[in-house]
Amino acid sequence: MRQNKSIRLGVNVDHIATLRQQRLGKFPDPVAFALKAQDAGAHSIVAHLREDRRHIQDDDIKRLKKALSIPLNLEMSIAADVVAIALKVVPQQVTLVPERRQELTTEGGLDVVKQFTKLQPLVEQFHKKGIDVSLFIDADEAQWQATKKLGASTIEFHTGGYADALSKRTQQQQLKAMQKSSTAASQAGLIVAAGHGLDVHNVDAIASIPEIEELNIGYSIVMQSLSVGFNAAVKDMLRAMKRTRRIARQSV
Ligand code: PXP
Repeated sequence: MRQNKSIRLGVNVDHIATLRQQRLGKFPDPVAFALKAQDAGAHSIVAHLREDRRHIQDDDIKRLKKALSIPLNLEMSIAADVVAIALKVVPQQVTLVPERRQELTTEGGLDVVKQFTKLQPLVEQFHKKGIDVSLFIDADEAQWQATKKLGASTIEFHTGGYADALSKRTQQQQLKAMQKSSTAASQAGLIVAAGHGLDVHNVDAIASIPEIEELNIGYSIVMQSLSVGFNAAVKDMLRAMKRTRRIARQSV
């Protein structure tokens, strides 16, 4: 029987840092906003240390780890210098994503099948440090099977294809693929998360997939916060998720 698990919200603070980097100053500070998200009920904080350091900086990661009492999920590529920082800071979780310098944001899932031999020693290194590993992938059986084989605990499905679909038909196809993969991957013992392009309007269909245990959301929360404030924007998202699912209790 499919189990309706409770669901958690990871708030991504990258775009607080995007704004700061426009003037290369100190404000707005992503750590201060991560703490606001924590107060508003977020279950974890997500930050992507990109190779080009366009938003989050090395020091932000160190400060986030120190300041937060909820888990830090460090999104990252497998670039050697970023891996070294992760191993030094020891966030509770890393989410490995593909990265292209020219892209505006992460455009697709990681090709775990193709990169299996490169990823294997890295996953081992993270596990040795007690860091949970998640892989950001498309809703594809070969990809989640490869993730399982790597020994990673978690997969995060890229919801961009669903969120940005130009027709209802494509959106439904994307949703179906995610429903199918979520059920199968969860039955295989993986923790299933999802994210990218989700907002209070499109989150219902994804949040109603019973096997999805976590949604990682950034851009729409930051955008919404311009009208209602950050605390209210996080709460609005939790409320939207709650329309279809029981929200997990705070992990602290
Ligand atoms: N999860 C992952 C792995 C991502 O790469 C991103 C974008 O940085 C997100 C979640 C959040 O996406 P958005 O900012 O569109 O909500």
